[in-house]
Amino acid sequence: MITATVKGTERLKGKDCLTLADFSSGEILSLLDLARQLKEEKFSPLLMGKSLGMIFEKPSTRTRVSFEVGMTQLGGHALYLNGHDLQLGRGETISDTAKVLSRYVDAIMIRTFGQEKVEELAEAADIPVINGLTNEFHPCQALADLLTIQEKLGDFAGKTLVYVGDGNNMTHSLMIGAAKVGMNCIVAAPAGCEPDLKITEQAQKFGEQTGAVVKVENDPFAAVEEADIVYADVWTSMGDEENEERLKLLSEYQINLPLLAHARKAPLFMHCLPAHRGEEVTAEVIDGPNSVVFDQAENRLHAQKALLAALLG
Ligand code: CP
Ligand code: NVA
Repeated sequence: MITATVKGTERLKGKDCLTLADFSSGEILSLLDLARQLKEEKFSPLLMGKSLGMIFEKPSTRTRVSFEVGMTQLGGHALYLNGHDLQLGRGETISDTAKVLSRYVDAIMIRTFGQEKVEELAEAADIPVINGLTNEFHPCQALADLLTIQEKLGDFAGKTLVYVGDGNNMTHSLMIGAAKVGMNCIVAAPAGCEPDLKITEQAQKFGEQTGAVVKVENDPFAAVEEADIVYADVWTSMGDEENEERLKLLSEYQINLPLLAHARKAPLFMHCLPAHRGEEVTAEVIDGPNSVVFDQAENRLHAQKALLAALLG
């Protein structure tokens, strides 16, 4: 039976999702409501006959599979477009690619390098564009993470997510997402690996509207004290060069049991995956009882189905 509705998400129809800053707090909460409904009813043919073009210029397991399966479960279809196989890889412009794809498909999901590429694509396309990860942001992962946190902890207000490690695309999207839904976000990163200052300030502004505190510091032990959630990501993101000096700095920020012993509560452990056991997190933490990493991975499917239904519905 199809009962899922897009109530509260109507204004998102036709919009892009380039960062979670594009959405209001209410829109994000409505997307999470819709995601929960869609999670209960696997097949909801809200996008019968619609197609999603998925451009990948970096590798992916979760994003690729969850978007493709999500479109199928919504009654639509997804096309995997490897950036190297497209004419884009031989110099066709992003703008021309956007205009051509707009004549065939109903939305584009793109995973690429600089955020400016996604913005250029969205500017030229007549259809919704979804950011499937750039060097700067990973909004779909953050949306799925908010769904997971809501399922595990209930209300966002008064909760604190502590991100430990490299200030990267994941950090940026978590700061914005947390601030938008009224959850505190503390980032502990080594000097020189902090998240982008402008994005941090943007998240802090959103936090002022919802009562969420967004803070960046260098001490992981102090940061985890009040954590309800401790979050990790890789030390070297896709497209980044491995840098011995940075890795040495980051080794002090590994999430392990001695670090978690500083937390007053028993925080959930989250990671967007893929993970490197023995680097950013130890096996006993990621494979331990408080880890929800596979729930996060599953929720990519449900959160993105909600996003697709809202943007294309
Ligand atoms: N978390 C995430 O985006 O995973 P993939 O790189 O496998 O898509
Ligand atoms: N920060 C990581 C996230 C992977 C999902 C990267 O960009 O490689």
